[in-house]
Amino acid sequence: MADKDKKERIGRIVITKEQIEGAVKAIASEVSNDYRQADDVLLVVLMKGAKVFADDLLREIDDKKYVAEYVKASSYYDGTKSTGKVKIDAPLEDIVVGRDILLVDDIYDTGRTLGAVIDLLKSFGARDVKTCVIFTKEVEHTVDIKLDYSGLDVEDSFIIGYGLDYQQRYRELPYIAVLELCDE
Ligand code: IMP
Ligand code: MG
Repeated sequence: MADKDKKERIGRIVITKEQIEGAVKAIASEVSNDYRQADDVLLVVLMKGAKVFADDLLREIDDKKYVAEYVKASSYYDGTKSTGKVKIDAPLEDIVVGRDILLVDDIYDTGRTLGAVIDLLKSFGARDVKTCVIFTKEVEHTVDIKLDYSGLDVEDSFIIGYGLDYQQRYRELPYIAVLELCDE
């Protein structure tokens, strides 16, 4: 049976809400410290998965020199397997020139998405691009990314919650759980 025809359910919780809150606070304080000299910082937030994280991060940083732009980038279209393709829909050419960019994503998995977006931002003339993710999957990454800020490591399973979806559902869960697929 194909994955998409199977019934899904929320499995084991692998990261709790409290762990996430702690990680967001830690990243917010590192970011604030590192950018204390900057006049303005542009968060490039990869939709849709990173929105939940970016909202919490911005609330925690609580400083109006940080502004966010939202960019659609996707490498998973359906099911639980990467299609290997990254689609970027980013009208950022004029916005990023000469600016300090903090690229925010939900999870560092293969690294293809982050790699593609970093290249794009640099080619548009960003002054500096730093990368920030809340989760890192414990896998051999296809593209090596130097993460400037990272929160929590997570096992190599398909996970849902805190922005991460399965067929556009479960992003609202305040914790991270493993997705379970069953035949009925
Ligand atoms: P990449 O493979 O590092 O390019 O990851 C790209 C995107 O795939 C991430 O930003 C997530 O939106 C999505 N993704 C990766 N792993 C998972 C997962 O376990 N659950 C849900 N989405 C995922
Ligand atoms: Mg994503």
